[in-house]
Amino acid sequence: MANSLPSSFLKKIREHRARVGVIGLGYVGLPLLVEFAKKGFRATGIDVAAEKVRSIQAGVSYIPDIPSRDLAPLVRSGRLRATTSWAVLKDLDGVMICVPTPLRKTRDPDISYILAAAKPLAQHLHRHQVIILESTTYPGTTEEVILPLLSETGLTVGKDFFLGFSPERIDPGNPDFATPNIPKVVSGVTANCRRAIQALYSEVIEKVIPVSSTRVAEMVKLLENTFRSVNIGLVNELALMCHRMGVDVWEVIDAAKSKPFGFMPFYPGPGLGGHCIPIDPLYLSWKAKIHGFEPRFIELASQVNASMPEHVVERVGEILNRKGQALKGSRVLILGVAYKRNVSDTRESPALEVIQHLIRQGARVDYHDPYVPRVKANGASLRSVPLTPAALAAAHCVVVVTDHQTVDYPKVVRHARAVLDTRNALRQMRPLAKVTKL
Ligand SMILES: NC(=O)c1ccc[n+]([C@@H]2O[C@H](COP(=O)([O-])OP(=O)(O)OC[C@H]3O[C@@H](n4cnc5c(N)ncnc54)[C@H](O)[C@@H]3O)[C@@H](O)[C@H]2O)c1
Repeated sequence: MANSLPSSFLKKIREHRARVGVIGLGYVGLPLLVEFAKKGFRATGIDVAAEKVRSIQAGVSYIPDIPSRDLAPLVRSGRLRATTSWAVLKDLDGVMICVPTPLRKTRDPDISYILAAAKPLAQHLHRHQVIILESTTYPGTTEEVILPLLSETGLTVGKDFFLGFSPERIDPGNPDFATPNIPKVVSGVTANCRRAIQALYSEVIEKVIPVSSTRVAEMVKLLENTFRSVNIGLVNELALMCHRMGVDVWEVIDAAKSKPFGFMPFYPGPGLGGHCIPIDPLYLSWKAKIHGFEPRFIELASQVNASMPEHVVERVGEILNRKGQALKGSRVLILGVAYKRNVSDTRESPALEVIQHLIRQGARVDYHDPYVPRVKANGASLRSVPLTPAALAAAHCVVVVTDHQTVDYPKVVRHARAVLDTRNALRQMRPLAKVTKL
C-alpha cells in the first residue's frame, strides 16, 4: 500500500513542530518525554500522581537516570511541561502510553492502568493523532483492547488516526544505553499507522525497526524478557546444583564465557526483581493459556527464580549453624534492597522477601542501601543504617543482596564476622574464610 500519510502531517513531524505527550511519567515515560523535548518538540507529560507533576514543573527529577540539571532547562524553556489534566490531549499530535502493567493478586495481567489511560484518549481523539502503547503487555492488547475503545469515536484507524505498539527497552542505571541509542521496534495496526509511528520515533531514536503487526511487537518484548527470566532460572538452578556438589558456580560461568560463540553468561542471584522480568513472562503465559497452550519454560523459570530468596535464607542458616548460632535471635545485616545495582527501585525486589523470611524465623534484620532510605517489609518499616564498622561487626551475618558499586566492600570484609555474597560482589578480594558465595 502506498504511503498515504498527509504531507502536512509528515512535515510537522520532520520539522519537530508536532506536539507530543506521554501518559505515565515513571522510569519509562519521563526519559521518553525528556528525549522529545531535547530534540526540540513541545512535550507534555500527563500523570495521575500530582506530586510527580509538581516535581517536574519545579524542574526536579525523581528518576536517577534523568538529572535535574537536564530536566530543569527544558521546563524553563517551555518545551517540557507536566500536568494531571487530560484536557491537553486535544492539542497533542502524538501520545505515548507508559503506564504500569502489574499482576493481580491471582498473578493474572492487570491492564486497568492501560484502560484508565485509553478512555480519556478516546474522549479527546482527533484527526491525525498518533497513539502508541509502550507499556509491556500480552499480545493482542493494542488491537483487542485499545482499538475498539478508540474506534467507538467513529474515527477510522489508519486514515483518521494512527495506533500502534512500540515496546520500551530502557534499562535503568545502564550508563551505556539510554532512550536515543536503544534500537526501537515499532508497529502499527495498519501500514499507515506503522509509517506514522516510524516517522515520529525516527526523529528522536537512532535506529527504528518496523515489524509487521502490533502482535509481533508485543511478543518481541515478551520474548526478550522471557529469555532473561528463563536463562536466569537455568543458572539459578545450576547454582543450587553446584552448592550441593561443592562446585563454585561463579568459576564455572567465568570459564564457560571464554567460549567466543554459542554461550552468553547469565548469573545466579537472590531472585528476580523489578517491574519487568518477574512479571512480563506471566503476561505471555496467561495469554498462551487462553489459546489452550501450556507454557512450560516460563512457569518453571518463574518457580526456580521465586525459590531463590528462601534459598538465601537457608544459606544464612547454614553459615550461622556452623558457628553454633541459631537464626532465631541472630542479627543479620542486608546489603542492598534495590532490585538491582545502582538503582533505587525496590519493586518486586528479592531483598524484601529475604528480609521477610528472616524476620519470620526470628532474626533481627537491619539493612544498608545507599539508594533506598527506607523500605517496608513484613509490615515493618525499616530505615537504612549507616555502614559503620560497628554495624558490620554487630551482625552475625552480612548478606550482600544487591551489589551497588558505591559500597565499600573491603570495609565490609574487614569488619563483618561472616558474609553471604549472593552476587559475587567480593570476587576481587582474595578468598576469605568468612565469605561464602551463593
Ligand atoms: N522500569 C523499567 O525498567 C521498564 C523497562 C521497559 C518497560 N517497562 C514497562 O513500561 C511500563 C511503565 O513502567 P515504569 O517502570 O515506567 O512504571 P512507573 O511505575 O515507574 O511509572 C508509571 C507512571 O504511570 C503513572 N500512572 C498510573 N496510572 C496512570 C494513569 N491512568 N494516567 C496517567 N498516569 C498514570 C504513575 O503515577 C507512574 O508515574 C510498564 O508496562 C513496564 O512493564 C518498564
